[in-house]
Amino acid sequence: MSGEVQLFVICATKEIQPGEAKAFSLSRVTVDGKTQPYSIFVVRAAGDQFFGYLNTCPHQGTWLNIGDGRFFSDDHTHLRCGRHKAEFDIESGVCVKGSCKDKALEPIPIVVMDGDICLCGVELSEEEPQLYDDEEFEDTMEIMIHPG
Ligand code: FES
Repeated sequence: MSGEVQLFVICATKEIQPGEAKAFSLSRVTVDGKTQPYSIFVVRAAGDQFFGYLNTCPHQGTWLNIGDGRFFSDDHTHLRCGRHKAEFDIESGVCVKGSCKDKALEPIPIVVMDGDICLCGVELSEEEPQLYDDEEFEDTMEIMIHPG
């Protein structure tokens, strides 16, 4: 097993239209074998590039698409948090406007392979996630999300 990188298909590229984004509420297995929520989204940018981020606003941690379900600013040039309307660069995830300016969305490791979008090196689980108190959950989240 060592040296191998696990790939998990999360959807076909054709399921996300150019200029759109799609959210996934997944569960992942941590290094200590526990199951945790793994809420992510993938955006298909101009030029057919795909970018994946944790669906967590760096301001107060809500889902970006909270409220109306949208991920984009009104002019569709940036990602946007539905709560306090912070805006983020699509390609870098950096906040360019709003309460968390200069912080960034947490990228997730995705690759496109044979027409599928795959998570890379993140072990997913079919189980319902266990619940944690906030502090423990945040500590673990920081450890787990490190592309490459
Ligand atoms: S929670 Fe996203 S801008 Fe405040």
